[in-house]
Parts: sequence; structure tokens; C-alpha cells
Amino acid sequence: MTTRAMLRYGRAGALVLSGVLFAACSGSPGGESPAPPPAQAPVAAQAPPDANIQQVVDAAFAKYKDLKEGKNADYIPALAKVDPNLFGIAVVTADGQVYSAGDLKTEVSIQSISKVFTAAQVIQEQGLDSIANRIGVDATGARFNSIIAIEGVKMVAGSGAPEMNPLVNPGAISATSMVKGATASEVWAKIIGIHNDMAGRPLSVLQDVYKSESDSNQRNQAIGALMLAYGYITSNWQQAVDLYTRQCSIGVNAKDLATMAATLAFAGKNPVTGKQVMDGEKVPGVLAIMATAGLYDDSGKWLFRTGLPAKSGVGGGIIAVSPGKFGIAVISPPLDDAGNSVKAQKVIAEISNALGGNPYAARAR
Ligand code: DON
Repeated sequence: MTTRAMLRYGRAGALVLSGVLFAACSGSPGGESPAPPPAQAPVAAQAPPDANIQQVVDAAFAKYKDLKEGKNADYIPALAKVDPNLFGIAVVTADGQVYSAGDLKTEVSIQSISKVFTAAQVIQEQGLDSIANRIGVDATGARFNSIIAIEGVKMVAGSGAPEMNPLVNPGAISATSMVKGATASEVWAKIIGIHNDMAGRPLSVLQDVYKSESDSNQRNQAIGALMLAYGYITSNWQQAVDLYTRQCSIGVNAKDLATMAATLAFAGKNPVTGKQVMDGEKVPGVLAIMATAGLYDDSGKWLFRTGLPAKSGVGGGIIAVSPGKFGIAVISPPLDDAGNSVKAQKVIAEISNALGGNPYAARAR
């Protein structure tokens, strides 16, 4: 049965799939978190049928636009002021086509999604082992800014590779400290450079967010100092914390984020601009880290429902990658307790599962 053949519209106009969809796709917008998937096999992975992508995106937008669950992050004061109703969806495919719904123009701060691209810069420059050996590629099972997690996994001389990852704050600040450059400006040029190339346009820092987070990031400063003390950062932790704060404040819209995801989906080549941004053989390592830790302590639940490497940010964005098929991004600021956008999780699961995006769902021969 093809994905197209399985698509049908329910009475309320919502797109539904016959029999084989994850529960995440059939949850009501106002309901509880999606139930675990049913026992049936998920939709077989296959190339998305182009004609249906826009319909699937439009149906998900209609289904979830009035969902009011979650709350904007407020530990960074500027984020509490962002319109919680902001809602944009974008999907970018191999040919650089953009399928979208809702707000594609308004920029939010990229926040933790930047951690993927700074780690990608380090991997591109210094190889996959650089991150694996200095920071680690394992889940901490803790919140993104947990200090207890640092104590739990701290590097002890002679104990082998550390067990952390570059997507939690301590690992991300360490990854930022690893980008090579003689001055802060040189390091920043590389960090913003990879973000620009992945998005396919020059991006800017949202200065109000940068100032707000710089004024309130004492916890990240403590994390930076601790990472220096434990040897994950080798020098200049203050510069690393400042550049990390700046990278988190880069402004992006839903199309930017989906293009960044699509560049990872297509072996490091931006499908909109055609530029090879990073070496294709290094991308699977980046995706593995996203699958392991992209949604923090909820990464396992997310992978179970969708199979997609993904990354969230407290600005309300989530990116997800269906390798060889599409990159997808949703922006919606209200978050759940783990710090992940409630609506973005539901919408990405809905769209990806409808398009056969789960890379684990191979077709039977
Ligand atoms: O360092 C922080 O706390 C923020 N700049 C980023 C945290 C974040 O986005 C966590 N993601 N869901």
C-alpha cells in the first residue's frame, strides 16, 4: 500500500491514515501527551509523494493551530515576551522545494538548536572523534542545564571518554570553546558562518535576546567554570560562555530551520543553495548525537514515536531530519516541562509519520 493510498480525510477535515499510524498522530489538540504507539508496524519509509506534502502540512496546521498547551520559557526574560501564538511549519525536500504553513517570516532565537551546528563545525574542523573524546556522545538523562549531571559524568583521569554530549549546556559550552580561532571574532565568524551556510542566508543575532540572556546566565557561567575545572574546557571559559550565549540568540524563522535540517538530511549539501556545507561522511555522527540527546531527557520517547534525529530550542523551534527524504521545522514557543515545544513535537510527528519519514520503518521486501 502506498502512503498516498493510505491518506484520507476524516469527518472534521483532519488528515488521518488508515490503521498504521502512531498514536501521536491521532491525539486531539487539547488532549494529553500522545500515548505510546500501537503494536502495528509504523508506516513504511519511502520517498514522500510530492503532491501530498502540502496537503499533509496544511492538515497538521489546521489540526494543531488552536492547541494551547505549554508555556513560554521565562528564565531568559526576553523569551517570555514572545507571542505564544506564533506558529510556523516548513518542510524542505531534496529538490530545495519548501512546503509551509503559518508564519514563515517571524524570527525567534535559535537557542539550543545552535548546539547542533556548533558541534558540526567542530566535527567538520577536527573530526568526529574530537567531540566524542572531549565531551562524549552519551545521554545524561538529565535536564539540559543540570549541574548534577556534570558531577555524575565528570572526567576522571584515566577513565576513558567522558559520558556527556554537545547538546546539553555543559557539553555545548565546551564545544563552543573547541572552535579554533585566535580571537573571539575569528571563532564567532566560524560559528555564524556554519549557521548561515546551513540556512542558506546571512543570519543575525537578536540583540534583545542576547542582552537578556547575558544579564541572566549566571547558571551557564557556573557551568562554564565547572567545565574548566574538570578539564572539558581547556582555556578561556568566559569567552566560551559569551559566544555560546550569542549563538543561542541567532534569529531564525521556520524556513531557515527547515533548510538547516534539510542540509543534514542530504549529506551536508544545502538543497536550496546547492552548497556542500560539511563533509557528507561526518553527518551521520551529528545525526546520532541528535537522536541520542536532541530532546534531552525526552529523547527516547521522541525517537520511539518518530525515529527522527531532532533538536529543540527554548525559543520554541524544533528541527527534525528524515535522512535522504526531508528536513522539517516547526516554531511554536510554549514548552513542556523538558523544555521542548509542545506543538512542534505533535506537528512534526504528525507530518513525518504521514510522509513515511521514520528511517527505522523499512519496507518489507
Ligand atoms: O543556555 C540556555 O539555557 C539557553 N540559551 C538554551 C537552552 C535550550 O534551548 C534548551 N532547549 N530546549
